[in-house]
Amino acid sequence: MLSDIVTENAPLQAPTSVESVSRPIGEPRKKIYLANPIIDAEMKAAALSALENEMMVMGESVFKFEEEFAQYCGTKYAVSTASGTAALSITLQALNIGHGNEVITTPFSFIATANSIVHAGADPIFADVEESGINLSPSATRAKIGSKTRALMPVHLYGHPSRVDEFRDLATEAGINMIEDACQAHGAEFKGRKVGSIGDAGCFSFYPAKNMTVGGDGGMITTNNEELADAARSIRDCGRDKNSKYYHGRIGFTSRLNTVNAAIGRVQLRRLDAWNEARRRLSQRYRKELENVRDIVLPPRDGSMEKAVYHLFVIRTRLRDQVKNRLADNRIEAGIHYPRPIHLQAPYRQMFGYTEGMFPLSESLSSDVLSLPMFPTLTEDDVVRVCETLKHSLAS
Ligand SMILES: Cc1ncc(COP(=O)(O)O)c(C=O)c1O
Repeated sequence: MLSDIVTENAPLQAPTSVESVSRPIGEPRKKIYLANPIIDAEMKAAALSALENEMMVMGESVFKFEEEFAQYCGTKYAVSTASGTAALSITLQALNIGHGNEVITTPFSFIATANSIVHAGADPIFADVEESGINLSPSATRAKIGSKTRALMPVHLYGHPSRVDEFRDLATEAGINMIEDACQAHGAEFKGRKVGSIGDAGCFSFYPAKNMTVGGDGGMITTNNEELADAARSIRDCGRDKNSKYYHGRIGFTSRLNTVNAAIGRVQLRRLDAWNEARRRLSQRYRKELENVRDIVLPPRDGSMEKAVYHLFVIRTRLRDQVKNRLADNRIEAGIHYPRPIHLQAPYRQMFGYTEGMFPLSESLSSDVLSLPMFPTLTEDDVVRVCETLKHSLAS
């Protein structure tokens, strides 16, 4: 993922493709990045002001950001953390989920989803994705629920909401918890409710390429459960007891969000809805340009219940490498999220004995997904250029 971080100041390189060399020498085409985080003057001023006027750790901006994020998601509480991984792992620990327990999740996600379960001391149990979708399948999940299962962890992948109502029903029926991995879905909705407000807790990441960032790593837990919120606040802060500096009721971590980052996050949050609308508009343009193109499958469309926020715009094509290379030749960055499902990553093979063929739908996605440029300041002309290049690459 680190390679996905891009800046507006990346140096221009000479064009290399057949199409580009026909342009006048000295006029290379603008590079189109996969993602492009925005840090504007107001965010810089907020960061500087926080640095000069507040405590660097647990300053006022941290608490204001938490309050505003909870309000945005429609939950009573929000607890900030140092990363999305920490948010997920701390949530599990706050729910007393650990050694001897199992948590069911998808193998088709960023590896941090499953890592958070291992960090908490529990075992990740995978269930495959939906037949013609990208998110965890409720029926495959039901089949994996057993006596050791303590939680379900669906992921709203690429900003597309999971079937959270079905997971909530499954969890209620089994008397276990449901935690939404909303790390890629800030502002997405299911049945008119923001993701992160439907399960026992929602967990967000503010890594720079996400729909909103804090100008570095950061995370957030959203919940309506006061006990969970209190426990999470303690765990992220060395296991401190409420309001007492050197009394510790549990073994915790140093996993707080820095004040400067919270100050940036507060400004970013105010921009989030407009940015998400831009992502949705750009995704419509992609669909229009690509709807009748053979050899590609477009991302799932919103049903009547979902509102996706297109963290990524991901197509499927068997000609992925050919397309990706041609795009790169034309100074267009594309990505693969993710080329290897989690169960086939080395530690998961070694620690849990997972092997090829166990989750065929996830494995198939890994072999043909391709992420096209998507960020709020991408222009419709950029989208047309990406699509034209993509169509040429399929024809060649
Ligand atoms: C689905 C998903 N879960 C968890 C994480 C972990 O978040 P972080 O990188 O902030 O630890 C990410 C971040 O990339 C993610 O995409």
